[in-house]
Amino acid sequence: MLLLLVLLGVAGTTDPLSDLENVAGKLVFYQMEGNATYVRDMGDLASDVPTETMFELFDPQRNFSRSKFTYTWDLGNGEVIQGTEPVVRYHYPESGNYTLRLKVGVSISKYTPAITGMYSTDVQVLDAIKNIELRSPSDYEVSQDSSLAFHVDGSPPMWVCWRFLPYCVPDTMGGCTLTMLYENTLRLNHTFTSPGVHCLDISVRNEISKLQTSFSLYVKRNNNPQLVFMLSCAAILIATFSFIAVIACRSRTQQIPVSSNALYLKNPDSEGQSSVLFKFSNLERGEKEPLLLQCGTQYIS
Ligand SMILES: *[C@@H]1O[C@H](CO)[C@@H](O)[C@H](O)[C@H]1NC(C)=O
Ligand SMILES: *[C@@H]1O[C@H](CO)[C@@H](O)[C@H](O)[C@H]1NC(C)=O
Ligand SMILES: *[C@@H]1O[C@H](CO)[C@@H](O)[C@H](O)[C@H]1NC(C)=O
Ligand SMILES: *[C@@H]1O[C@H](CO)[C@@H](O)[C@H](O)[C@H]1NC(C)=O
Repeated sequence: MLLLLVLLGVAGTTDPLSDLENVAGKLVFYQMEGNATYVRDMGDLASDVPTETMFELFDPQRNFSRSKFTYTWDLGNGEVIQGTEPVVRYHYPESGNYTLRLKVGVSISKYTPAITGMYSTDVQVLDAIKNIELRSPSDYEVSQDSSLAFHVDGSPPMWVCWRFLPYCVPDTMGGCTLTMLYENTLRLNHTFTSPGVHCLDISVRNEISKLQTSFSLYVKRNNNPQLVFMLSCAAILIATFSFIAVIACRSRTQQIPVSSNALYLKNPDSEGQSSVLFKFSNLERGEKEPLLLQCGTQYIS
């Protein structure tokens, strides 16, 4: 029924047709993110974000100031919204390319048929960049080629600018390396030249969003396999030597009291006993030393 009326209105008289050209206007897109409102005049919209499209009528002579308007918005994703306001509030849940169509109906008076105007525009709905996640690797070593893989959400293409900051020292002068990203995986190749904490600043932008983030990476000292082997060998050798030394020292400390009776000498049980034993040991020594000396002299002579 409605379609028929519209057709009649358009085709019925010649005057409305000439007026039809005068229902001039344009579509303006706004998107709200938090407290900010963005004007999207390049035909790119962010998905899943509150969106407003406004039909701005061009009527400098105010010929339509008393007219009643009807608006039929076809979002191009199966959703059709009708209303009497020149504005529609909606959002595209999914990214993709859509054609938004607006049909404006104007009834100047009760007795004249409605005038219609059709507007259509192609919109590209993109996912905003919300997260950059470091996927691999988890550890880094000095002078080893590292290939860092990140998952970047958001619709490509994306402009990526990145830089490494040794020891996270802020560098206001240095620029960043710009790369284009046509997928959601970003691979950065880097060779760290010093151990410690390093920062990686990444800024990613697509047509509708921008995200800046910083990663803190801990770079280990280069663990040369040969050096590890040598160090472990040295450690084993040191352990063995100290073990031998401990045994030698222990056996020597055991020997000393046996031969010299120092254990008994230290014993303060009774003066009489210790003095007896002291004599005993003196006798032993007295016997041994001359014997050895005699033997030596005998062989020589
Ligand atoms: C929005 O504005 C209010 C106050 O005007 C503020 O408290 C809030 O933090 C703002 N939100 C964002 C996302 O900026
Ligand atoms: C507005 O109406 C006047 C007559 O009232 C006419 O001369 C003029 O062309 C109209 N302008 C437009 C843009 O339709
Ligand atoms: C949408 O259109 C653009 C060109 O305008 C094209 O580059 C892009 O691949 C299209 N996206 C999809 C999801 O088809
Ligand atoms: C890093 O190297 C890989 C191949 O190993 C390459 O695909 C990638 O583009 C390189 N990344 C940069 C930023 O040059």
